[in-house]
Amino acid sequence: MKHLIRLDEAKRTDIERILDLAARMEVNSDSFRGELCGRSVGLFFQKPSTRMRFAFEVGTAQLGGTTTVFRTSDIQLSRGESLADTARVLSNYIDAIVIRGRTQQDLVDFVQFGSIPVINGLTAKFYPIGALGAAYTMKKKFGTLSGRKLVYVGDGNNIAHSLMLLCPKTGMDITVISPEWYQPSQDVVEEAKAEAAISGTAFELTDDTGAVKGADVIFTDVWTSMGMEEEREERLHAFQGYQVNRQLLETAGGSPMVLHCMPVRRGEEISAEVAAESEIFENAANLLHVVKAILYYLL
Ligand code: NVA
Repeated sequence: MKHLIRLDEAKRTDIERILDLAARMEVNSDSFRGELCGRSVGLFFQKPSTRMRFAFEVGTAQLGGTTTVFRTSDIQLSRGESLADTARVLSNYIDAIVIRGRTQQDLVDFVQFGSIPVINGLTAKFYPIGALGAAYTMKKKFGTLSGRKLVYVGDGNNIAHSLMLLCPKTGMDITVISPEWYQPSQDVVEEAKAEAAISGTAFELTDDTGAVKGADVIFTDVWTSMGMEEEREERLHAFQGYQVNRQLLETAGGSPMVLHCMPVRRGEEISAEVAAESEIFENAANLLHVVKAILYYLL
């Protein structure tokens, strides 16, 4: 595995190794100090970022490497230089790049024209690091992921797509519950079904919140992702009935773990009460170990 673009490039063993590394880094952070000494990582953010940016900046420093954070407006891309030329040039200066891009194509282009590992720090279509972060949090709680059921409730967006590709590779069943017009992309649904068939895990897509029954984990995310702000009112209306709240937890039964990749809009996709009892902050904290593990693994 040379890049982390969609998660389909990661084999089951890559995911296991990254999660194991993250665990070792959390428990014994000092033994990895200096491992990336002399290495430089570019952090290219075309969209806002809190957790991802800090986790990569601090994580790289803890490993002894350095980072350069930049936006489109900081570089000649904003004046018409091509991404191809940018990728070729930057590949001589830095050892890896994290891109929070507007489109998946930016990452594909960087891989094609550059020669360094490219890490997807979120695009409108995929958020593989968010899914790996959740896998780490779930593994810490359950010990083993195989046989567990994750239910994603809400917008069929980037994190939903990445969880759909991740779950079969970890032996987990996944159910996605989204209102009719906001379900995941058909191409990713087909891919997730095929992955689930290979792994012998379950994949279910529905608009019925009753399907939350039996969930070990309930995952939700904002109803309006970055770049979709003009659809906010329409979405607030369409997602009524899809909030992760006490009633939904009762329908699930048991005491499922509740996760969210943050930022959280309390009172929209999740009630303030359920958010307060959830493991969203533990999950955000775990991101630091996971991004360090990804960098170390790819470099
Ligand atoms: N789906 C959200 C995730 C934020 C980390 C977005 O793309 O805005």
